[in-house]
Amino acid sequence: MYKILRKERLAPGINLFEIEAPRVAKHAKPGQFVIVRLHEKGERIPLTIADVDISKGSVTIVVQEVGKTTHELGTYNEGDYILDFLGPLGKPSHIDKFGTVVMVGGGVGVAEIYPVAKAMKEAGNYVISILGFRTRDLVFWEEKLREVSDEVIVTTNDGSYGMKGFTTHALQKLIDEGRKIDLVHAVGPVVMMKAVAELTKPYGIKTVASLNPIMVDGTGMCGACRVTVGGEIKFACVDGPEFDAHLVDWDELMKRLTYYRDLELISFEKWKRERGMI
Ligand SMILES: Cc1cc2nc3c(=O)[nH]c(=O)nc-3n(C[C@H](O)[C@H](O)[C@H](O)COP(=O)(O)OP(=O)(O)OC[C@H]3O[C@@H](n4cnc5c(N)ncnc54)[C@H](O)[C@@H]3O)c2cc1C
Ligand code: FES
Repeated sequence: MYKILRKERLAPGINLFEIEAPRVAKHAKPGQFVIVRLHEKGERIPLTIADVDISKGSVTIVVQEVGKTTHELGTYNEGDYILDFLGPLGKPSHIDKFGTVVMVGGGVGVAEIYPVAKAMKEAGNYVISILGFRTRDLVFWEEKLREVSDEVIVTTNDGSYGMKGFTTHALQKLIDEGRKIDLVHAVGPVVMMKAVAELTKPYGIKTVASLNPIMVDGTGMCGACRVTVGGEIKFACVDGPEFDAHLVDWDELMKRLTYYRDLELISFEKWKRERGMI
């Protein structure tokens, strides 16, 4: 059992949990994730390690409420326990001195780029972070990303805060200004990562994306998380989750993510009904 040491509502529908998990904290590297199961009847879901505090033996996850399990986790509070917390999983991000690195985070992906941006900065890179949100109320961790970046650009789709538009507009602007970019690292909704990949490809800018397919075990045993990269089948949980974004079959990933939509809705409705929420 893993104790919740701290819970913080970062934005509507986005919760931070600091979990007591000393072994995961000790071994975690940027880009890795955990598989979480809330209770005996729960499913296993993958969540990125957004931060660690080795002195406290804690791991921070940032979770967006999108369906039954993530909403149920949203009802958990400080002092509550999570049944399973398996990790660190996946290959760590490739950290090196590339030169100028542009980190692109969309929505909850902003929390997921933090440890990678921090490591890139520590490795001597010039780090530009582009943080994309739908609207002002959803903005979080701007200050935290500033601490590990040389420049931060916040975008909102509706222009209510920062630059108006998508993360790709901010990235296009940097390219148009002739800024030297050695690597782009994108984490966020699949549509955003696909758009970033399509934008950088003609310029030949190396682009890495952290893929988020359906996962079950997270240890390479089943292939639920398979993706096609450069025409080859890869298991994101062990071969990734980060891959060369220009080689990913984005349409296949998008399609596979929708396979259980009907059952996801049924399960969420049942959970809400049991709690008198509908
Ligand atoms: C490596 C990795 C890291 C991730 N990191 C984060 C994170 O840090 N924060 C965060 O909020 N989300 C993260 N996700 C996505 C998160 O796992 C899903 O949002 C969650 O599983 C949805 O569960 P649900 O029951 O609440 O929603 P559901 O209603 O069951 O599903 C909503 C959508 O989430 C996706 N999904 C459902 N089940 C899974 C599953 N078992 N594995 C992957 N995707 C699923 C599907 O696209 C689905 O349509 C990550 C996914 C992966 C693969
Ligand atoms: S989730 Fe089963 S192999 Fe990756």
